Amino acid sequence: MNRPRTSIHGEWSSRWAFVLAATGSAVGLGNIWKFPYIAGENGGGAFVLVYLACIVIVGVPIFIAEVLIGRRGRQSPINTMVTLSQEAGKSKHWRLLGWAGVIAGFLILSYYSVIAGWGLAYVFRSGIGLFSGASAEEVQTIFNEFLATPERLLAWHTIFMVMTMVVVARGVRSGLEKAVRYLMPCLFVLLVVLVGYAMNTAAFGQGFEFLFKPDFSKLSQDSVLIAMGHAFFTLSLGMGAIMIYGSYMPERASIAKTTFIIAGADTFVALMAGLAIFPLVFANNLEPGAGPGLMFVTLPLAFGQMPGGAFFGTLFFVLIVFAAWTSAISLIEPAVAWLVETRGMRRLTACVWAGMATWLLGVGTVLSFNLWSEVKLFGKTYFDLLDYLTANIMLPLGGLFIAVFAVWIMKEAHVREELAMINKTGYRAWRLLVRYVTPVAVLIVFLNAIGVLQHG
Ligand code: PFF
Repeated sequence: MNRPRTSIHGEWSSRWAFVLAATGSAVGLGNIWKFPYIAGENGGGAFVLVYLACIVIVGVPIFIAEVLIGRRGRQSPINTMVTLSQEAGKSKHWRLLGWAGVIAGFLILSYYSVIAGWGLAYVFRSGIGLFSGASAEEVQTIFNEFLATPERLLAWHTIFMVMTMVVVARGVRSGLEKAVRYLMPCLFVLLVVLVGYAMNTAAFGQGFEFLFKPDFSKLSQDSVLIAMGHAFFTLSLGMGAIMIYGSYMPERASIAKTTFIIAGADTFVALMAGLAIFPLVFANNLEPGAGPGLMFVTLPLAFGQMPGGAFFGTLFFVLIVFAAWTSAISLIEPAVAWLVETRGMRRLTACVWAGMATWLLGVGTVLSFNLWSEVKLFGKTYFDLLDYLTANIMLPLGGLFIAVFAVWIMKEAHVREELAMINKTGYRAWRLLVRYVTPVAVLIVFLNAIGVLQHG
């Protein structure tokens, strides 16, 4: 047995550093920008309930599986899959799972960076008081005009990509860890302040009801797939981000305990964001299903009306950018680690190549909001298609195979070694979930979405 391996890329300085970094990866645009708008598009309460069920039944067990695989392999996801499948005496083709993850990471970061760029732009727009006293229509017009200028979106996308690659180039401890330590707690506090503000609007009850009162008639087959896809997206699961963070995790930290903290924090942030946004949507007669612009219209509107709004607005968008930043670095880390391990590149060189490729792909997303907005495949723009393909198909499939690998391919003794901290009952429950319940749940949602169940 060759455990313990060590990672050539370094290790987090403590269990707590792992929790912060993984929370940094999980908490991002997915929670504050995406969750509210997809909840709005899919009718609210029932969607939220399915999403929460997916976090518990599918997300948490797979999270544990992904961390344990990473910590045992201690390399980039591709090489970890090679090492662990050999250790188990199984086919080396499992490395394809690592590859699928790297590709998903590229694709996601390419559009993630564009949206994070909107956040960056809004830091400055709030800072100069552009939204002070603005009406709902004015805020909407400002947003529409912004989207209509590709060179602006491109400039902000470029800046965000450079920011991301600079942190990744600095490596595990000095780069990734420092960025998350102070910013995450700040974000939590500011979200609580925003919810406090929303509570004082007349429509808080309506917003609350929209989010938490399930109306299953509003739930389509597709909504269920989107809710499950989002559970993967928001926890950064199914593409190796959590695997590589697990590979930097100290030997003595408990995987299960840290997972509960991370999943709890992530869910908390998403629900708080929903509670901050929907009361404002209803108070201002905005459309809950407005799509990707939802946050960029409702929140500036709120900041424009509150005392000290320019300050709080700027701070809020700064924090959104940081949340996106700490997620972005985890999207590209698997690819960079692989280039360093296998191609023998310096970290910096690897970052330049990976960053440029991602940037280029992002240009498609930039254009899909303006020049290419009418170019559609399956009724979706380039951005919508990329988002749908990655979040709702690639991540759940990746997660499914990660689950299968942990409980059907790896030797149980090895798994048990990584999960030594959980008691027997906890371990049995996890194994049962990952062996049967999780894969079946993922498959049912898939089959349901492609209509096999109704027609077949
Ligand atoms: N979890 C991040 C968010 O919610 O914004 C997005 C993300 C990061 C997805 C890393 C996937 C990933 F591997």
